[in-house]
Amino acid sequence: MIPAVLPTYSRAPLHFVKGEGTWLIEEDGRRFLDLGAGIAVNALGHAHPALVAALTEQAQKVWHLSNLYEIPQQEELARRLVDASFADTCFFTNSGTEACELAVKMARKYWYEKGQPERVEILTFDGAFHGRSSAAIAAAPTEKMVKGFGPLLPGFKVMKWGDWEALEAAVSGTTAAIMIEPVQGEGGIRPIPDADLKALRALCDKTGTLLILDEVQCGIARTGRLFAHEWAGVTPDIMMVAKGIGGGFPLGAVLASEEAASGMVAGTHGSTYGGNPLGCAVGIEVIKHVTDPAFLAEVNRKSALLRQKLEGLVAAHPDVFESVRGLGLMIGLKCRASNADIVKAGYANEVITVPAADNVLRLLPPLTITDDEIAEAITRLDAAATDVEQALAK
Ligand SMILES: Cc1ncc(COP(=O)(O)O)c(C=O)c1O
Repeated sequence: MIPAVLPTYSRAPLHFVKGEGTWLIEEDGRRFLDLGAGIAVNALGHAHPALVAALTEQAQKVWHLSNLYEIPQQEELARRLVDASFADTCFFTNSGTEACELAVKMARKYWYEKGQPERVEILTFDGAFHGRSSAAIAAAPTEKMVKGFGPLLPGFKVMKWGDWEALEAAVSGTTAAIMIEPVQGEGGIRPIPDADLKALRALCDKTGTLLILDEVQCGIARTGRLFAHEWAGVTPDIMMVAKGIGGGFPLGAVLASEEAASGMVAGTHGSTYGGNPLGCAVGIEVIKHVTDPAFLAEVNRKSALLRQKLEGLVAAHPDVFESVRGLGLMIGLKCRASNADIVKAGYANEVITVPAADNVLRLLPPLTITDDEIAEAITRLDAAATDVEQALAK
């Protein structure tokens, strides 16, 4: 019999009843060290007092207002994001997928209004993940995502990363935008080198193509800068964010330059819940924290510490791990053993990690993780790796 919850996930048999900072507490009392943070969502950890206060304070005033009215919390959050980024304007969504939808629509509408309605094509890259809507799976059509869900939306072309000749040849009079994650998340924590991001920007400038960056997973201080593209010193025309921006409250956004957003006038787009007062009240608190230079400096210090300890872990378990990669606190351990087995061994040792493509183990801890918790993470990952080694030796 089909479960009451549609069985699209194969879930681990864990029942977490409480979260505290970097810890998740199982109903049987076990304390798990959470190096997944809901896949880069709980940027400030679980139940951060400032977020709890913002949410409960707003909950006592007004939960929801239609976007037919002005929403002061939305205006404040938009102002903070605009002030802290390349963007001139911002639209709030409920998720990364919904941000992807708007990014695509915005790029196409831009060219339509410029009198070039034939510029509809979006170029994307292999290994990417942009969400699960019809547009998002057409943008990143891995077999798992698209099999049985055809016909796929037209207007997307997937390029092989690194093949510049093919990319330059593909940018034509029908190209609207190039869309890319500065650090691929689901694809296996693959940072795009700064020089390549610069070259991509230059190609877009030369051809008038819009650059869309998907910072749903790598944005909001995850890499040690507010947005990952800042490391390369380039700016996009349109950017998608979600996950960390709500710290656990479903919230996303599309940020854009005034020029790129110029087609999006009243009546062209909307969302019932996007930018509602509860979500924005939490988002304001998150942004206050993650834009603090001292907070960002700590993320960088702790990522260097974790990275150094992980290099030792990899060296100690050469049959289990191959290498460490990533940026900031968005870290991938390329595995020699099965990443799924290591995740499972992690559960047995009360540490949570997340698998990714390319046999990578993802570590996306709360950005508030402490030095002691980093040491504890290594102890638990070491125990998990030892269990996997012992199983391999059998
Ligand atoms: C880079 C990227 N884009 C888009 C999405 C989709 O976001 P959501 O699951 O909030 O719809 C994700 C989710 O993992 C993501 O990592």
